[in-house]
Amino acid sequence: MRVTIDVLFKKKKKGLKITMVSTYDYWSAKLCDEVGIDCILVGDSLGMVVQGKDSTLPVTLDEVIYHTKCVQEGAKNAFIIADMPFLSYQVSPEKAIENCGRVLKETKAQAVKLEGGEEIAELVYRLTKIGIPVVGHIGFTPQSINIFGKPKVIGKRKEEEEKLRRDFKALEEAGAFMVILESVPWRLTKELWENSKSIVIGIGAGKYTDGQVLVFHDIVGLFEDFKPKFVRRYLEGAKLIKEALTNFKIDVEKGEFPSEAESYGQ
Ligand code: KIV
Repeated sequence: MRVTIDVLFKKKKKGLKITMVSTYDYWSAKLCDEVGIDCILVGDSLGMVVQGKDSTLPVTLDEVIYHTKCVQEGAKNAFIIADMPFLSYQVSPEKAIENCGRVLKETKAQAVKLEGGEEIAELVYRLTKIGIPVVGHIGFTPQSINIFGKPKVIGKRKEEEEKLRRDFKALEEAGAFMVILESVPWRLTKELWENSKSIVIGIGAGKYTDGQVLVFHDIVGLFEDFKPKFVRRYLEGAKLIKEALTNFKIDVEKGEFPSEAESYGQ
């Protein structure tokens, strides 16, 4: 049965942790679904993980729609969130509503995720009112990499701490049912979570949350370009795959693949 917002709130109420994985295609979504991951985020991290770009900025709305459709085919139970890419919701409220609506219409995603706090609160309110559930994303927000300069922890300085409190409150008041906190000191996360009405999901924000999100390729060790402090690799996937590919190459080169059993007779 498809996970709904109601199911997620029931988990929060019971103190049951929520799991979320960023993934972008049929097979990885199917694997997540088969082990009971609650939510799949079709993140704009696909720019780096799938496309090999150095930031999330080049990702387009059509690409998010394409990948969300692939994920839909694989995940029959998980709650699916589509990440709105850079400039798909910042230009004007009308354009944002049209784009978010298009994502829900074309992909059957159940919610959209937007980066930002106070500055997008009005938009979050309007989207929610017309039936588009919104996930907020504050703390380190990768679409603002050119402002931050590099990935960093947000909330260490007094002004940042206060801004995060305001952002969190603004998103909740505007109707965001879920807020993702990225790279936030755990004490501040704990404070926000303890007073929260929304579902709080962390990434690099410590354990005092309703749940955690990580990128699929980080969990299974497929993405080796860099490893943030908050990533836990549960598999050395890239190493295992390279071993398999090397063995295939050796077998072909030595004439040991295919064997008779792997060939068709007459
Ligand atoms: O794009 C993404 O995958 C994300 C998560 C890491 C929160 O924004």
